[in-house]
Formats: sequence, C-alpha cells, structure tokens
Amino acid sequence: MKSIIVSMVAAAGLVVAGAALAVDMPAEGKAKCGACHAIDKKVVGPAFNDVAAKYKGDKDAASKLAANITKGGSFGWKLGSMPAKGMGATDAEVNSMAAFIAGLAK
Ligand code: HEC
Repeated sequence: MKSIIVSMVAAAGLVVAGAALAVDMPAEGKAKCGACHAIDKKVVGPAFNDVAAKYKGDKDAASKLAANITKGGSFGWKLGSMPAKGMGATDAEVNSMAAFIAGLAK
C-alpha cells in the first residue's frame, strides 16, 4: 500500500513538471480547434501564441476572444474565415478556450 501511494505521488510530480515545461492544448481545444490551430505555429488559423500577443495588455482579451470565437469569421489575419465555434464547441468550451488563449500572453 505504501509503495502504491509513493508511486502515485511520483507520477503526479511528473505531470506537474511536464506542464511547467510546455503548455499543452486543453482537451476541448484539441477536439474542437486542433484541426486548424496549434499553440506555437500557424496551421489553417493563427498560432494561439500569436493571438495572445495581439491582445496582450488588453484586460478584456478573454471576453473579446470568446465573442470572436462564438461568431467566427475574419479577424484581420488574412488566413480565411473561421467557422463559428470552431468544430461545434459549446459555450463553456468557447469560454475556457478564450481564457486559455488570453492566458498565453507573456
Ligand atoms: C476550420 C478551421 C478552424 C477551426 C476548426 C477553428 N478555427 Fe479559429 N481561426 C481559423 C482561421 C482561418 C482564423 C483566422 C481568420 C482571419 O484570417 O482573420 C481563425 C482565428 C481564430 C482566432 C483569432 C481571433 C482574433 O480576434 O484575432 C481565435 C482566438 C481562434 N481562431 C480560436 C479558435 C478556437 C478556440 C477554436 C475551437 C473552438 C477554433 N478557433 C477553431 C480557423 C479555424
């Protein structure tokens, strides 16, 4: 029993260490946005790091992003047009992704 607990703690420590090294796309982002977006590179749409840089210092970034993700369309990236809510994201998923993207600003 004791060894099981020790190994569980060790495994949890690895997960935390991994998260500190690289930001990973949340599960809903992989499912509903990942066909067109990555965090650190342009795919069909802009890299989420670049979006975060565009809104850096804007305290309303998360709510503006949520509104843009909800309505879709073009936002000046000249990459085409984004489908509203990506690939069928719920409002909760839109909001959590908006907060995630805004939080990438360095
Ligand atoms: C079918 C492809 C596609 C999918 C799926 C998609 N996007 Fe996009 N997205 C785009 C394109 C293309 C643009 C750039 C539009 C332009 O040229 O301005 C974009 C732009 C954006 C922007 C920039 C908004 C701004 O204000 O500059 C954000 C944020 C974004 N997408 C988030 C998401 C999220 C979150 C999801 C998943 C819920 C998602 N996208 C799913 C294609 C997609």
